[in-house]
Amino acid sequence: MEYNKMRKIENSRVLVTGGAGFIGSNLVEELLGQENQVVCLDNFATGERENIAPFTANSAFSLIEGDIRDLDTCNRACDGIDYVLHQAALGSVPRSIKDPITTTQVNIDGFVNMLVAARDTQVKRFVYAASSSTYGDSKALPKVEDKIGNPLSPYAITKYVNELYAKVFADTYGMETIGLRYFNVFGQRQDPYGAYAAVIPKFVISMMKHEAPVINGDGAYSRDFTYIKNVVQANQLAALVDRPEAINTVYNVAFGERTTLNELYAELRKNLTLFDPLIASIEPVYGAVRAGDIPHSLASIDKARELLGYEPQYSIGDGLKEATEWYYKNLEN
Ligand SMILES: NC(=O)c1ccc[n+]([C@@H]2O[C@H](COP(=O)([O-])OP(=O)(O)OC[C@H]3O[C@@H](n4cnc5c(N)ncnc54)[C@H](O)[C@@H]3O)[C@@H](O)[C@H]2O)c1
Repeated sequence: MEYNKMRKIENSRVLVTGGAGFIGSNLVEELLGQENQVVCLDNFATGERENIAPFTANSAFSLIEGDIRDLDTCNRACDGIDYVLHQAALGSVPRSIKDPITTTQVNIDGFVNMLVAARDTQVKRFVYAASSSTYGDSKALPKVEDKIGNPLSPYAITKYVNELYAKVFADTYGMETIGLRYFNVFGQRQDPYGAYAAVIPKFVISMMKHEAPVINGDGAYSRDFTYIKNVVQANQLAALVDRPEAINTVYNVAFGERTTLNELYAELRKNLTLFDPLIASIEPVYGAVRAGDIPHSLASIDKARELLGYEPQYSIGDGLKEATEWYYKNLEN
């Protein structure tokens, strides 16, 4: 099935929490293009005002600047909403290792507030960002939804607890929830700056500055890198799917192939060299393996294919091309 023939959210009122962040702002952009009223709830903890700047003049867009740790704010944001796409959280394994308390307060207390608000305002469905980190120390590849290991970080615990809470709210209060376990998402507007930046924007910005990127470990670690547009597709399908067996469960959202950090580096360098030939000679530096990192990650996307009709339209190569072009055109050297 082609993506444009797949179901899309239209003429609805949608709340995107974390809408000023990387994934959230891409969801907002797509939804506004499909005749929806979109509310963004964000406290700009890690999100950026410039991510939502293109939407603020659109009368179908509204911003609630607030914190999901405040129940009244969550209630206000859910008022009159059809679908919640809950993205707000503190991401990053290292951040959670440094400050487990704040990560727990936002990712668990904030999550429960959002569930309660969505329940009390009777939204149609609550779709939330889960995480591949829930697979923890499981060595099985590919990762299949019902076989998880022990969590390796406070962040991973919070994301797993989200799944447990969603299930209990579904069973206890009759809510409709779907969790999407994202695998290393990348694309436009992903933040390249700061200690907790993700690997792709970090490599890109280093090379654009003619600096050598640091690869943690020997570069043989691999991930199932997933382009943002595939994630946007999965969210829409999850909001709209009507088969009962597809609801109140979790799905891997990935491309379904793994790429080593060395391969990733080579691909990014090749793409960036088209814009700046000097980048061709930049070699990476190898550093220590990071705490909480697993060697390999690869998703089975069979369940999402079967039950949601998910069909990723962008390969890693296509996604990396679009993403590098975006960074090159939008970030200052
Ligand atoms: N990017 C990935 O590869 C990836 C992988 C797995 C899961 N996820 C999950 O996807 C979601 C979105 O991630 P992202 O990469 O876009 O991160 P991001 O940091 O760009 O976006 C998160 C957004 O949530 C907002 N936020 C944080 N705390 C908040 C609070 N207390 N109240 C209101 N808003 C708050 C931030 O300001 C930010 O705009 C998160 O739940 C994350 O855990 C992301």
